[in-house]
Amino acid sequence: MVLLGQTAGRSWQDVQNRIETGEIQGYLAMEDVPTPALMLDLDAFEANVSQMVAHCRTHKRTFRPHGKTHKCPEIANRLIQAGAVGCCAAKISEAEAFARGGAKGLLVTTAVIGRYKIERAIALALKKPDTIFSVDDAQNVRDLNEAAKAAKIRLNLAIDLFVGNRTGLPTGDKAVELAQAISKLKNVKLAGLQAYAGHASHRMGFDERAAFSKSCMLPAVETRRAIEKAGIECSLLTGGSTGTYNIDVDIDGTTELQPGSFMFMDVDYSRIGGRNGPVYKDFRTSLTVLTTVVSQPTVNDVVTDGGLKAFSTDKPFPPEAIRMWRDGPQPFSGASFSWGGDEHGKLNLAKASGPLRVGDKVEFVVPHCDPTVNLYDRMFVYRGTRPEGVWKIAARGLSQ
Ligand SMILES: Cc1ncc(COP(=O)(O)O)c(C=O)c1O
Repeated sequence: MVLLGQTAGRSWQDVQNRIETGEIQGYLAMEDVPTPALMLDLDAFEANVSQMVAHCRTHKRTFRPHGKTHKCPEIANRLIQAGAVGCCAAKISEAEAFARGGAKGLLVTTAVIGRYKIERAIALALKKPDTIFSVDDAQNVRDLNEAAKAAKIRLNLAIDLFVGNRTGLPTGDKAVELAQAISKLKNVKLAGLQAYAGHASHRMGFDERAAFSKSCMLPAVETRRAIEKAGIECSLLTGGSTGTYNIDVDIDGTTELQPGSFMFMDVDYSRIGGRNGPVYKDFRTSLTVLTTVVSQPTVNDVVTDGGLKAFSTDKPFPPEAIRMWRDGPQPFSGASFSWGGDEHGKLNLAKASGPLRVGDKVEFVVPHCDPTVNLYDRMFVYRGTRPEGVWKIAARGLSQ
């Protein structure tokens, strides 16, 4: 019977124990997963990762995907196994979580400001000496140098360049001056440059996006050349995103890509336009949120258990229903979603591909993957129709 699902004969405690240990393969059916739940289609995820690894190899760029998207050490390690040189982290606390999980090659893409964060940066560098820290301020560089001196280590630094997006030092002379200042200090070393043109990544239309990303990144490339001309080694220029991965490799002088969303995809990215058409289809959707229909006020209106606390709502478009589960998966589309408050989502079925009833599961593509992942402690990973494991989102909520 649908309302009992396939857990009949087992207690919730049995199921919960399995979820805690992650040993759900062959035990838990998709219909048994407690909803709302974050789901990862392993076949789609692995295909996305292989594709990006191959792309970077073909274009002779290193690959350091951004961990702010997944916040999951298991994923960081799998990406490294697949060929990534490391893992970007937005903040020090995220980097600490990846380090605890065993990841190497960390790059903290936000400057580490303040006494205690610098103390944490030193502790991280002692544990993972290949970590790179972003800087854009001369006093912060001196503070890091002093702390590194006291710890008898040398910190790797990347100058964060302002390429029109948010943080960083202006490209050109100011960045060269900071590179010179770094080169005179004994306990810090310039690893290279960090330049993330996030405002280019979602520009609609491939040609428009390509022209815009190039206009943002060219000054970064010129800055790298100017630093090298000043006699300072600057072997790294890292940046790029899911929207510009196939644009930035055509810019001579970029050395590394740090995309994140490509591994999951979301509604936001599907709208930006691809190289070959109006819909961006370069990568497969691997991340979804699974919900349960908990009420049916009218024949054409159902309510699911996924609302504002199940999906990030920073975008002006809602989650998209793509599949339903009732004794197995069935394609499902055309339903129109509206927010039903913190805990609920309303689905109008007037234009849906089929009916729904209480107990059915409905799977959604999320509007924006990064902040949605941050709402969950774990993701259920599955292959085909069979759950295979539970991965902890250990850096969830770590935004310090
Ligand atoms: C510094 C930095 N690099 C890379 C990325 C990855 O971008 P995307 O998820 O669009 O691929 C982000 C995302 O916000 C970022 O902040």
